[in-house]
Amino acid sequence: MAGAQCFPEPEDSVADNKRGNTMTTNSEFKAWRVEERDGEYQGSEQTLSTADLSEGEVLIRVSHSSLNYKDALSASGNKGVTRSFPHTPGIDAAGEVVESATGAPAVGSQVIVTGYDLGMNTDGGFGEYIRVPAAWCVPMPSGWDAHTAMIYGTAGLTAGLCVGKLLKMGASPEQGKVAVSGSSGAVGSVAVELLANLGFDVVAISGKADHADSLKELGACEVVGRDALTEEKKPLLKPVFANAVDTVGGTPLAELLKQIQPGGSVSCCGLVAGPQLSTTVLPFILRGVNLLGVDSVEIPLADKQAVWEKFAGEWKCPKTEASARDIGRAELDEALKAFLKGASAGKIVLDHGR
Ligand SMILES: NC(=O)c1ccc[n+]([C@@H]2O[C@H](COP(=O)([O-])OP(=O)(O)OC[C@H]3O[C@@H](n4cnc5c(N)ncnc54)[C@H](OP(=O)(O)O)[C@@H]3O)[C@@H](O)[C@H]2O)c1
Repeated sequence: MAGAQCFPEPEDSVADNKRGNTMTTNSEFKAWRVEERDGEYQGSEQTLSTADLSEGEVLIRVSHSSLNYKDALSASGNKGVTRSFPHTPGIDAAGEVVESATGAPAVGSQVIVTGYDLGMNTDGGFGEYIRVPAAWCVPMPSGWDAHTAMIYGTAGLTAGLCVGKLLKMGASPEQGKVAVSGSSGAVGSVAVELLANLGFDVVAISGKADHADSLKELGACEVVGRDALTEEKKPLLKPVFANAVDTVGGTPLAELLKQIQPGGSVSCCGLVAGPQLSTTVLPFILRGVNLLGVDSVEIPLADKQAVWEKFAGEWKCPKTEASARDIGRAELDEALKAFLKGASAGKIVLDHGR
């Protein structure tokens, strides 16, 4: 499951206090809970007890969560994401540790939890409390807070992992343009800003003509419609992109692969346009194109922590931070439905204090 321990062991002299051996908290809290009624899935605010949460070493008072496409799938009853209901979605959470059976993370510390089983079959960040294994908790980077972390959320983490893989393959601005598909979405928009901040000429591919200006503000040098990636019969096309981040999968990814320069790479993380990939081997064997898979969920905790530390430092995306939208639990239903229609844009933070 999770990888390396990311917290320093507490010193013996403080360990007993920090270990918070009194796992007795039984607090009521609010959660946006999804229930199944006659095959329909409906979310609403409910009052739960921390005693009802799943087992785990760490109880966290969640101040903020972040909205992701996967949350919309969970909230709409997708059994590939969440097997049984009632359920509290929210694959992201950030907040304060209030009980810790292991002492690391320490009571009172701020942590980020994303992925693993959170919000899938473990109650997630759309509730004011979560209980999770210590091995899922990343310490909050210094100078950061829960709200900032949740502006990025799993989507930002994934964008960072996609860009990190391209860089590891040797991608550089001098090689040429880098394309981002699904560019107005949660992952795509962070990828656009991050790549632009790193000096790349970013071509944002988007189905939302009315978002061209905001994508340019994020740093895209060009915005093109999704028709740039509609199905063509030819197995290879003019190689116009040096590298790419693909957040949509399906036919657009197959078409993108045909347009990558020799030796270029495509980071692939999403499936909003479909999980199937119908391609030939020609981009791979004639142009040496690399298709790089990106998973943000089950990777070792230390790999997640490394990306969080970068976003809190050299990878900071000020425009994404400034343009994120905060919502309360009452607005979740509408915001999640927009994801399923492909109509969501930018980053949305759930603030439990609203
Ligand atoms: N691998 C991982 O660990 C990981 C982590 C996070 C997310 N993901 C996946 O990454 C994908 C994007 O997530 P997200 O949170 O960014 O979702 P999102 O906010 O809904 O963004 C997806 C974007 O894709 C475009 N799009 C939507 N439907 C499309 C279609 N049918 N054909 C082509 N483009 C379409 C839209 O952008 P435009 O209108 O600008 O084209 C939309 O805004 C999802 O499949 C999600 O499950 C994977």
